[in-house]
Amino acid sequence: MILETLPSRLLLGPGPSNAPDAVLEAMRRPLVGHLDPHFLALLDRLKEGLRTLFGTTNAMTLPLSATGSAGMEACLVNLLEAGDPVVVGVNGVFGGRMAEVARRAGARVTTVEADWGRPLDASQMDDVISRVRPRVVAFVHAETSTGVCQPVEEIASAARAAGAMVVLDCVTSLAGRPVELDAWGIDAAYSGSQKCLSCSPGLSPVSVSDRAIEHVRERRTPVQSWFLDLGLLAGYYAGAQRVYHHTAPISAIYGLAAGVDRVLEEGLEPRFERHRQASSRLVQGLEALGFEPLVEAAHRLPMLTSVRLPERVERLGEAVVRGRLLEDFGIEVGAGLGPLAGEIWRIGLMGENARPEVVDRLLEALHAVLD
Ligand SMILES: Cc1ncc(COP(=O)(O)O)c(C=O)c1O
Repeated sequence: MILETLPSRLLLGPGPSNAPDAVLEAMRRPLVGHLDPHFLALLDRLKEGLRTLFGTTNAMTLPLSATGSAGMEACLVNLLEAGDPVVVGVNGVFGGRMAEVARRAGARVTTVEADWGRPLDASQMDDVISRVRPRVVAFVHAETSTGVCQPVEEIASAARAAGAMVVLDCVTSLAGRPVELDAWGIDAAYSGSQKCLSCSPGLSPVSVSDRAIEHVRERRTPVQSWFLDLGLLAGYYAGAQRVYHHTAPISAIYGLAAGVDRVLEEGLEPRFERHRQASSRLVQGLEALGFEPLVEAAHRLPMLTSVRLPERVERLGEAVVRGRLLEDFGIEVGAGLGPLAGEIWRIGLMGENARPEVVDRLLEALHAVLD
């Protein structure tokens, strides 16, 4: 069978990361129906765990049955109607994707750009928000295309002061560094199961505030996406009477439930510290090999390190070196995207992989390829 030929890889790219046995074993458990009381109880517990991770009491917190991009789309298409003004911060691929999703929803999009590798400028965002008076302000917490960690609070409070709702992309940050939706005043946020949660790709944890749900109820037009309509999704995920909306991906939810349990057993602060320590060990080791961090230390993500390449790598060909890491050592690292393609690598130490022994395995392999 073709499945038996699949290799085992150490996944140190921008995601997915490796899933631990506890998650993979959970996914092998027998299927039950998606309206089975035992499954609904598991779902309720998972929702509670996700609230803790997101730092929120939002009732509407759920594992959406699709990847992070669907979480993005769900947050934006529910909060926006055709003609609504929206401000989107763009300093990488995923801010750009948010702007495109909002445009396709018919919104009038104003982008605030920053160089790739730099955070958005809060005062520039504030100026544009004051001028545009948007319905929604959207930006990315952890920009996986560059490795930048965006400070959230100043932009979120400028948005709220202007009466806007705030949408935050937490795909790469959740469970790897603090996310505090309620303290920050975020109305809608989404993540992905495959990054710092170390689960299989395919689910998007989403959390939406009561205030935002109220806005959804007051829409003049129906949400353009039937599948992502939060009002309809609530019937299955949040109602007292759980009714069929779509068939929930049972095995993936088992896996995510096991993954969230592991995060909570470890504790959020120790987990964040583990990510910080692993990333500083990685940066030190890479600098010794001549790689240079793209992002200044104050704005660097712990779970995704982007580095400019040393001459030795450029001489061999960056794709050739990545190919050797993959084929000879079973290690995947990520290439640059967009304007940074060929210029940087993106190395993920996400969830289970944020460990010193993992860093050392990569550094040893790099030495072997480059020496
Ligand atoms: C910051 C960010 N947002 C959104 C996405 C889209 O998620 P997915 O690929 O799961 O659809 C990703 C995926 O890498 C991401 O890193």
